[in-house]
Amino acid sequence: MRRHKISIIGAGNVGATTAHWCAAAELGDIVLLDIPQTEDMPKGKALDLMQSGPIMGFDANVVGTTDYQDTAGSDVVVVTAGIPRKPGMSRDDLLSTNAKIVGSVVEQVRNLSPNSIIIVVSNPLDAMVQRALQVSKFPPSRVLGQAGVLDTARYRTFLAMELGVSVEDVSALLMGGHGDTMVPMPSCTSVGGIPVRRLMSDDRLSAIVDRARNGGAEIVGLLKTGSAYYAPAAATAQMVEAIVRDKKRLIPCAAYCDKEYGVGGYYVGVPVILGAGGVERVVELQLDEQEQRDFLKSVQAVKELVAKMAELVGS
Ligand code: NAI
Ligand code: 2OP
Repeated sequence: MRRHKISIIGAGNVGATTAHWCAAAELGDIVLLDIPQTEDMPKGKALDLMQSGPIMGFDANVVGTTDYQDTAGSDVVVVTAGIPRKPGMSRDDLLSTNAKIVGSVVEQVRNLSPNSIIIVVSNPLDAMVQRALQVSKFPPSRVLGQAGVLDTARYRTFLAMELGVSVEDVSALLMGGHGDTMVPMPSCTSVGGIPVRRLMSDDRLSAIVDRARNGGAEIVGLLKTGSAYYAPAAATAQMVEAIVRDKKRLIPCAAYCDKEYGVGGYYVGVPVILGAGGVERVVELQLDEQEQRDFLKSVQAVKELVAKMAELVGS
């Protein structure tokens, strides 16, 4: 069977750690690319990672490079290129710089890997995926963003910590944009099959929801030199796996929604079926009144971000 080719653009914290998770799970052959100014850094990381194979027991070719030709014919391209958040910065502060970076990366992807599925990770996420769609001109099913798996994982982690149970038993969903308006969905949250509201008070649940919303900023505040990467990379690797193994995972991703949820042509976090075709279906749920209000507020924030991006870099 042909091995999948997975290119990861940006060999920084999220990119290199995504390469690590993908190699360890033997998802395919991996190309890790960064800008020429980083000189041999991607080569060093790739070689180091491959040398962990004999110890950890995985087979994966990992190539580090600054030459886009090495990415040609990729099945999946993960875009982590850009600048991360520093303390005091919001995701939106990254808008102009990262829109230009993501645009230039996606131009290369369009030319060299025209059949690939693009997973965008760079922030501000919902605007960057829209940028990737505009520049690639790929069908929207082949351009998506990582945020919901991470945000949901944070929410699940805090619930497990609160209840003293295994994270494996916490099942949850979070929708909306990857920002302060994201929408945790207590109605779709259960622990061992028990609806979460039967296990904790509304006050505790809403404190956890708030902590999940601010999960990215909490890590930035602790790290001080950048933003989270272990969990973001694990989330991205889960999406790569869903695609290369055609798993039909039902997970939240930033997906293009037009008629879906009445969004009108923007990327926003929604539950999707993710498989070999990319976003194979957006799963539409009946939202309750509060969820609908929160979702619309989040969609509005995404629309404003995309409008700001259009002012800064054109559309
Ligand atoms: P980092 O600074 O460690 O790595 C970014 C890498 O991108 C650097 O190595 C840099 O040289 C490279 N780069 C810059 N311009 C490039 C270009 N034109 N082509 C190729 N590579 C280029 O940052 P980190 O922590 O890896 O974060 C990367 C991005 O992911 C940031 O925008 C961050 O905000 C975002 N992020 C998004 C998350 C999400 O859930 N969607 C979670 C965590 C981070
Ligand atoms: C996060 O949520 C910064 O978006 C990044 O950790």
